[in-house]
Amino acid sequence: DEDLVVLGIETSCDDTAAAVVRSNGQILSQVVSSQADLLAQFGGVAPKMAEEAHSRVIDQVVQEALDKAEITEKELSAVAVTIGPGLSLCLRVGVRKARKLAGTYVLPIVGVHHMEAHALVARLVERELQFPFMALLISGGHNLLILARDLGHYIQLGTTIDDAIGEAYDKTAKWLGLDMRKSGGPAVEELAREGDANSIVFKVPMKQHKDCNFSYAGLKTQVRLAIEANNIDAEIPISSASSEDRRARADIAASFQRVAVLHLEEKCERAIEWALKIEPSVKFLVVSGGVASNQFVRARLNHIVEKKCLQLVCPPPSLCTDNGVMIAWTGIEHFRMGRYDTPPPACEPEDVV
Ligand code: KG4
Ligand code: ZN
Repeated sequence: DEDLVVLGIETSCDDTAAAVVRSNGQILSQVVSSQADLLAQFGGVAPKMAEEAHSRVIDQVVQEALDKAEITEKELSAVAVTIGPGLSLCLRVGVRKARKLAGTYVLPIVGVHHMEAHALVARLVERELQFPFMALLISGGHNLLILARDLGHYIQLGTTIDDAIGEAYDKTAKWLGLDMRKSGGPAVEELAREGDANSIVFKVPMKQHKDCNFSYAGLKTQVRLAIEANNIDAEIPISSASSEDRRARADIAASFQRVAVLHLEEKCERAIEWALKIEPSVKFLVVSGGVASNQFVRARLNHIVEKKCLQLVCPPPSLCTDNGVMIAWTGIEHFRMGRYDTPPPACEPEDVV
């Protein structure tokens, strides 16, 4: 097997990320520049602003990834870049950079699907992980259950009919007045440790549906109503709340988290049954995407997976949230199978738009 070195570039949402990875699985460098400050200031991602933030740092992030890997552009086997799904204005910044590098240094380009990368990075982490396997991909924008039969051959078992679980975490954090400088998920997870998860009875979504789909919009509404009923004022940050007020917020966080994750557990259990009918040799469930860095989520899903005699593979948090490593690795997987765009003819950087 040829030794490949691939640069991965990711700009689909609010993080500008780049990494250099070898085909033997060695991560040579990993750089992420986050727009967390912008997010906290404006309470969400504004595409135009995010695009400008990516444009400001992209050259520097890629250069840092190459420097840390102690590698020059000429030594790369290929450049991998996220081509979707995501904000098109933001995706374009990464693609433009990849094209420029490919044009200047005559490198092949591999276009990468962001969600496929969240799933496949598990194969870098767990070398025993062969196709077919199952994946639950949980992030701010996606809630997917898939059966990965082979590289590029995926069956969707379930998706969200409205919001993703990460969106529900983020809104809950905002309404509870939590510190939004980090993303909302980790803040809710932390506060939930102080609360009583059985204090508020939220309804588990989609109980009556015999499918593997998700819905988090209704749970979001239930949380908002509980916050109103408890007279919680999001304008008062949690750090200035009275101990009684803090307790009420923690109870909501814990109760929300319990039901949000119970919904994942129920649908995963059913999806495993479905998947085993299609591919009886499935042995692993991959859980990836930003929300998979949550310890409570991991523990509960591990329980389900063990009950079904499968094994859980959950990448470390730095590889669960958006990162360049997963893009580089997915680039390597496709490149090895001959799936890439041949290098454009050599040209000067100024010629490339
Ligand atoms: O995969 P990701 O980094 O970006 C997307 O592709 O969306 O996921 C970001 C999402 C956010 O909604 C964030 O709040 C959530 O992942 N998240 C968490 C945790 N860490 C990140 N949710 C719950 N608990 C966490 N510890
Ligand atoms: Zn993502």
